[in-house]
Amino acid sequence: MKKLFRLALGCSFAGLAIAMAQAPSHPPYLKMTEHDENGTGISYLGREIAQVMGHQAADWLDRPEREAEEAPSILVKSLKLKPGMTVADIGAGSGYLSFMMAKAVGKTGKVYAEDIQQEMLDIVVSKAKDTGVKNVLPWLGTTTDPKLPAKSIDLMIMVDVYHEFDQPYEMLSHMVPALKPGGRLVFVEYRKEDPKVPIKEVHKMSVKQVKKEMAIFPLNYTETNEVLPRQHIIIFTRK
Ligand SMILES: C[S@@+](CC[C@H](N)C(=O)[O-])C[C@H]1O[C@@H](n2cnc3c(N)ncnc32)[C@H](O)[C@@H]1O
Repeated sequence: MKKLFRLALGCSFAGLAIAMAQAPSHPPYLKMTEHDENGTGISYLGREIAQVMGHQAADWLDRPEREAEEAPSILVKSLKLKPGMTVADIGAGSGYLSFMMAKAVGKTGKVYAEDIQQEMLDIVVSKAKDTGVKNVLPWLGTTTDPKLPAKSIDLMIMVDVYHEFDQPYEMLSHMVPALKPGGRLVFVEYRKEDPKVPIKEVHKMSVKQVKKEMAIFPLNYTETNEVLPRQHIIIFTRK
């Protein structure tokens, strides 16, 4: 009996040790003494977290010159979406990209237009109503969890979003399990490496920094595609 108890205890310690070895450690959020006026004053893995873009600026996301400036149609083409796929547009804003991707996945596919601002989702609802598009699903998440079903997403994309997460560790801890094994996680971020990109500094990210922040999650770095004029397309795949 004593031996059995020792064995059980030994097993649970071994289980705990494995779980601890597998769990990514939570990097700290550090308060900064001096910081960028567009930042939150919180640093995460050496990067200042940016302030969230308010819904009042939604018109800027839908500006007519966006195609000429950022080539979002080339972005969508580069993703090689197929009919029937399930996509999550994390931080979808007014759904500018969600509706473009909805066309690519067709009627048998769907796009979750996820955001933390209900006002942004109200714009998505009204666009869906006006256009009759049925495969864009407005989806309210929180700053720590997009609340997507486990292993359900083929491709999760964040276009100019990740640098605004106020709790990136918690968000990614919930996002990765929502990907199907082999599913893709895509970052579209303004190039920090290029001073000519006309965007506020805290709203830009380098490839090196994105890789550093993703290294603690069960993801394989897949590639960086540089087809866009201002942004990196950085792709990871769920292990
Ligand atoms: C600059 S906008 C980009 C919108 C859209 N991706 C586009 O390119 O048109 C950033 C969006 O990210 C959203 N956001 C910020 N933090 C978020 C979080 N933790 N979870 C989901 N969305 C978030 C904001 O509410 C905002 O709508």
